[in-house]
Amino acid sequence: MAVFGSEVKKILDALPFYVLIINKSHEILFANKAVERELKLKPEDLIGGYCPKLVHGLDTEFEHCPLQEAVSTGSLVEKEYYDDNIQKWIKTSIYPFEHSLSGEEVAYFHIAQDITKSKQDEEQLKASIFKLNNVTHSIIEAITKTVEKRDPYTAGHQQRVSILAAGIARKMGISEEKVEGIEIAALVHDVGKIVIPIDILSKPGRINHHEFSLIQAHSETGYEILQGIEFPWPVAQIVLQHHERLDGSGYPHGIKGDDIIQEARIIAVADVVEAMSSHRPYRQALGLDKALEEISKGKGKIYDIKVVEACIELCKDGFFME
Ligand SMILES: [Fe+2]
Repeated sequence: MAVFGSEVKKILDALPFYVLIINKSHEILFANKAVERELKLKPEDLIGGYCPKLVHGLDTEFEHCPLQEAVSTGSLVEKEYYDDNIQKWIKTSIYPFEHSLSGEEVAYFHIAQDITKSKQDEEQLKASIFKLNNVTHSIIEAITKTVEKRDPYTAGHQQRVSILAAGIARKMGISEEKVEGIEIAALVHDVGKIVIPIDILSKPGRINHHEFSLIQAHSETGYEILQGIEFPWPVAQIVLQHHERLDGSGYPHGIKGDDIIQEARIIAVADVVEAMSSHRPYRQALGLDKALEEISKGKGKIYDIKVVEACIELCKDGFFME
């Protein structure tokens, strides 16, 4: 059956993958030259045949065949499947188009492409990303442990801040991608403390002005340590700003409001709540209620309103137990 003019046929025959025109009953109306290489059949031997039989050796419809869906939706359908027989990934596409040569109004343009190479590349890329993610998490864990080996009083502090900050962020409806950045930044937010003398970190009782300024420097030291690592999130920036406060009373730069990035505003609240809930060398744990009272008092003044509300809701639901 002369389905196309010779020019169109020439173009279709030049394609590197096979093209069939079929009707809704799977009858083949046209096959291009590539079927000789791909299916080891001559195009003329396919015409008038039952597609599932000739292409897949089946008496009934092939399970991955997108034809029925294309017939019922009237639009393009694409499917990818692994063919065990030829051990290849195949992408099969069906495009309905108006065509009356078969005595029906619609015929279906059927393309099958070998996508094994791109599937393999995709799998390799996924494996590399997975590996890279693992490396990133291992490095973060190593940094977290380094800080905590020196300062056992804050052992677990960063992990707990990370869990709480991620919980707050999710409660606020923040995207999972951004939540991951918050988790990572929280896990290393006190890395700058490694330069603070251990006797200051674990000193019971009050600290003097000089000691306090040494402690305050940990935000900037953390920033300096992390800024060279190309994270997909602004980790160094978050660490730098985690002691900034909305009214500009925080440190190191006294920046205000929205100038403090949202991730840092979240970690700031989680940090305070975790620190107050836990024991410190200079005081007993003050308890979660006291911590929530503290952030409520500072809500909208020094702490972000939405962050505080999400944190209180979360803790009242029993998310963050002492
Ligand atoms: Fe800190």
